[in-house]
Amino acid sequence: MINLKITDRWNAEYYKNHSDKQFQLGMSVLKSVHFRVNEIVLDVGCGEGRLTTEIARCIPDGKILGIDISANMIREAQKSFGDVPNVSFECVDATKLDAKNKFDRAISLEAFHWIEDQPKALKNIYAALKPGGHLYILMLPLGKNPIFEAMENAKWSSEIQPSKAFFQGQSPETIRPLLEQCGFVNIDVHTEANKRVFKNQKELCDWLMGWVPHATGLPEDKAQEFVQDITQAARSCTGDLVSVGYSLHVKAQKP
Ligand SMILES: C[S@@+](CC[C@H](N)C(=O)[O-])C[C@H]1O[C@@H](n2cnc3c(N)ncnc32)[C@H](O)[C@@H]1O
Repeated sequence: MINLKITDRWNAEYYKNHSDKQFQLGMSVLKSVHFRVNEIVLDVGCGEGRLTTEIARCIPDGKILGIDISANMIREAQKSFGDVPNVSFECVDATKLDAKNKFDRAISLEAFHWIEDQPKALKNIYAALKPGGHLYILMLPLGKNPIFEAMENAKWSSEIQPSKAFFQGQSPETIRPLLEQCGFVNIDVHTEANKRVFKNQKELCDWLMGWVPHATGLPEDKAQEFVQDITQAARSCTGDLVSVGYSLHVKAQKP
């Protein structure tokens, strides 16, 4: 049985080259945020730093700190964007973040569902925000997704056993009280559908291989086979390869 408690299975270079869909979704969120040019921003679960650096462009007189639990991701971020003047990266677990009243805004894009102790991470982010500071989380909602469905298949259920380290979504009903317990106000939580259209089977498989090995703990060859199984279900009636997913958008403010 595979141990899913490993936090650093991310292949950062592969993720960088095959995460355009995550990048596009992240960019759509950033376009809706009204950054002030001198904000101090925290990016929680920054990964290989592409979106962190896009945020940096929106705050030319401010700065952004990207944190990530994965040393692989932080190494890749520093290699690619370490010379951007208003960006820095640190290998920090959000559940151990220790900052007080430092940031005008915290953003977390497609990372929160990977965090094991999400209530603790929210408390730390709340403490790290300045009074009046804003939070935006884009994450997976609770519910069915092709990975869980494929895992339920007898072929895979004996090979992969989800544990708490496996990604864990939230619903508007489950995350709202967690935010309220921290003290957040002006809470707005909703789910949105996002449709990803892939040019061909390879593009879909490449995207899945960016995160499925991490999510399942399967070695490369098994992960490839698992991904092939998932993609069987992803063909739309038009012949396009389409993955319709949902995202949870969480906005809140520290009073
Ligand atoms: C799918 S990547 C998202 C990267 C980037 N934000 C993006 O949208 O492309 C998820 C990231 O969350 C990070 N992560 C998971 N648990 C974390 C934790 N407890 N603290 C900080 N980062 C964490 C992972 O290491 C990974 O780099």
